[in-house]
Amino acid sequence: MKTVKFGVIGCGLMGREFASATARWCHLNADIIRPEIIAVADINPANSEWFAKNFPTVKHVFTDYRQLLDLEKIEAVYAAVPHVLHETVYTDILKAGKHMMGEKPFGMDKAQNDAIIAELVTHPGLMVRCASEYPFYPAMQMVIKWISEKRFGRILEIRCGFNHASDMDANKPINWKRQASMNGEYGCMGDLGIHTQHVPFRMGFVPENVFVKLSKYVTHRPDGKGGMVPCDTWDNATVICDVRDHTGNLFPMYMETKRMDPGCTDNWFFEIYGLECSAKFTSLNPNVFSYLVPWGKEQAWADINIGYKPMIPTVTGPIFEFGFTDAILQMWAAYMSELEGKPLFFSCFTPEETILSHKVYTAALESHKHKTVITL
Ligand SMILES: NC(=O)c1ccc[n+]([C@@H]2O[C@H](COP(=O)([O-])OP(=O)(O)OC[C@H]3O[C@@H](n4cnc5c(N)ncnc54)[C@H](O)[C@@H]3O)[C@@H](O)[C@H]2O)c1
Repeated sequence: MKTVKFGVIGCGLMGREFASATARWCHLNADIIRPEIIAVADINPANSEWFAKNFPTVKHVFTDYRQLLDLEKIEAVYAAVPHVLHETVYTDILKAGKHMMGEKPFGMDKAQNDAIIAELVTHPGLMVRCASEYPFYPAMQMVIKWISEKRFGRILEIRCGFNHASDMDANKPINWKRQASMNGEYGCMGDLGIHTQHVPFRMGFVPENVFVKLSKYVTHRPDGKGGMVPCDTWDNATVICDVRDHTGNLFPMYMETKRMDPGCTDNWFFEIYGLECSAKFTSLNPNVFSYLVPWGKEQAWADINIGYKPMIPTVTGPIFEFGFTDAILQMWAAYMSELEGKPLFFSCFTPEETILSHKVYTAALESHKHKTVITL
């Protein structure tokens, strides 16, 4: 099987998810070019060790990522590093002429995103995307299909979000994701927001204005060494926008990103309410596609257990369950298919979509500052 030689910069949580997906490429029942990781780079050698131990194809281990970029045989790079490094690392990857899968928020702030995009436009031949895996759940793909088929009629509302609860534990130690100097001023919006925007943006629901409610609850966290340090990122955010449906009518879209939502362990959800039909999906019940067709004054939700029927076929039977690592594999299979120029029903988050994302979140910070609605 033909392969694309990959380097990984940032060997933490997400770097490993990618590596695990490449090891499971045989799972795909489709002829898609395979990513082969030959080099990794991380400032912390303990994190790179796992790669060297588990992947015989990894021949180069660096602490300075620029050495990885100097390797001519590397064709593509996955960069999964803290937000503050996005601009430097992503632009260096592009300057080195490598295809790239970046991570959200694709620049810590709008200035960083602008710099990445400015570099990208000088390399039109590179395939660059931003990771976002949740839309690849088969039950969510069904919602996307129904939106594409315009089954909802006039849209009343979209509510989408990505909410967590582990920060409810005030004793949870700090990490870079809770420090604005490393994570950025967007806080929870930058961390979680692109996940919520992938489907609405792709379906053409473009915000015309933004109003935000930002909340901060836990101001200090243990530093892991017996002390307490500031935890200065936003904990919870609800962004409210006006968007237009295919009939030209305005409707409100609510995008939640919360670190403190009691009971939520990785709750990615999307709900669309229309005059002719409504539908919803939540990763808390990942195999279920729920829909409702109104019969006059009263309505009832119907649930279909979709099972394992992903966009890109796999060896798993259709009656089984789908999960997070399957969504990661689908996202990477989608990236590699696009790299080969194969058409797809639904593809990865694009750099153009990251521009819109930054517009929304920069406006959200303005909205918070002035307590007003910001027109985009
Ligand atoms: N797609 C998703 O579902 C998802 C989930 C979590 C995080 N992310 C994103 O992935 C990125 C990384 O997050 P993570 O959770 O993997 O973080 P992490 O802290 O687990 O890993 C980051 C790694 O980068 C390394 N690193 C730091 N500075 C470096 C440098 N100069 N050169 C090379 N390596 C360096 C760290 O040592 C660490 O191993 C972020 O952009 C984050 O928003 C995406």
